[in-house]
Amino acid sequence: MVQKKQLCPYSILSSAKPRHGLKIRRGRPRNSGLLFSEGESMPTETRIIDKDIRRAQTLPSSFYADSKYFELAKEKIFTKTWQFISDSDRVRVPGQVLPWTLLEGCIDEPLLITRDTNDKLNCLSNVCTHRGNLLIEGECHAQSLRCRYHGRRFGLDGCFSSTPGFEDAADFPSAADDLSRVPFGTFGKFMFAAVDPAFDFNDLVGEMQDRLSWMPFDQFVFDPALSRDYIVQANWALYCDNYLEGFHIPYVHPALAAALDGKDYRYELYRYANLQIGIAANPGDAFDIPKSSPDHGQLIAAYYYWLFPNMMFNFYPWGASINVVVPLAVNRSKVCYFTYVWDRSKLEIGAGANVDRTEREDEDIVEKVQKGVKSHFYSRGRYSPQHEQGVHQFHQLLTSFLQ
Ligand code: FES
Ligand SMILES: [Fe+2]
Repeated sequence: MVQKKQLCPYSILSSAKPRHGLKIRRGRPRNSGLLFSEGESMPTETRIIDKDIRRAQTLPSSFYADSKYFELAKEKIFTKTWQFISDSDRVRVPGQVLPWTLLEGCIDEPLLITRDTNDKLNCLSNVCTHRGNLLIEGECHAQSLRCRYHGRRFGLDGCFSSTPGFEDAADFPSAADDLSRVPFGTFGKFMFAAVDPAFDFNDLVGEMQDRLSWMPFDQFVFDPALSRDYIVQANWALYCDNYLEGFHIPYVHPALAAALDGKDYRYELYRYANLQIGIAANPGDAFDIPKSSPDHGQLIAAYYYWLFPNMMFNFYPWGASINVVVPLAVNRSKVCYFTYVWDRSKLEIGAGANVDRTEREDEDIVEKVQKGVKSHFYSRGRYSPQHEQGVHQFHQLLTSFLQ
């Protein structure tokens, strides 16, 4: 426990030097802090978030409250990162076609997943190369993709095949008339796409894929009754901050805390992901981990993987709860829960029991933080070196992408 030193708060204010990007006015309430001052070039991440967690200050509160940073994040983070797209059971046989709006409500990129006649998955733009109509409006089986606006056709692999009325067109068709191919990756049956990814897909999921290779992902079945969306009146990054530390579990989630052995809770950081491992308080609530896993012999109740910037892959002995945080406005987010069940008999045990209650407890606290970060008296805080490495990593990544 770190005890507060007996310092007069006014002596702190009067000796405070303005820190980069922060406006501190002596003798008056602090304003909410600016990430970057007007007209200033983008600072480097080290100037905003110190790499040394023992010295670092958290993200300036303006990030969570100022819509200009919200818009900047859409362009600089969400079009540059991988996003979850359902699972490949929806395109199981050749001819199946799945339209999917990438991060609907935020970047809204219309995509199409197809399984072509060679049994290959394709991730394509769902925008017709003629005048931009949305090509496919609902899940279907098809031999080819036909635009209903002027009749242009494409193969299931996205290649242009025919179009009426272009007999006299010069240099036509060209590669530009094929549907655009979209960067695509799979982890088990889970599919991901990106508009313009800044890093390799393997750098996102590689560790998780190796670590959990013993799990029978082909037996994970999507359960619509246990899947739902939540609307949270808070910034998307505040929701992620909260997820990234187990520090709050004993205070905010009494039922979850009782299911976990708090002293053995731990964190592992990777380049674009991190992992929190919860140890079961009751040995009967843990995974039965095979010898092939580096975790064999441990009583693991939950693997909580976070994938930058907004996805949570939570694995419990019953299966997986995949949560995607969709930024809707600077102070409003949608959290989509996709639930995949592997062993239904374990739904009610341990850390994975009642994820809905845990979600409501998280929403309640995060919505209060959203109000707090708007205060004139709060600008930024400090990290707990023991418990907030994941939050620190997230803030470093955020600020590096915003440059
Ligand atoms: S927009 Fe598709 S054929 Fe014209
Ligand atoms: Fe929580």
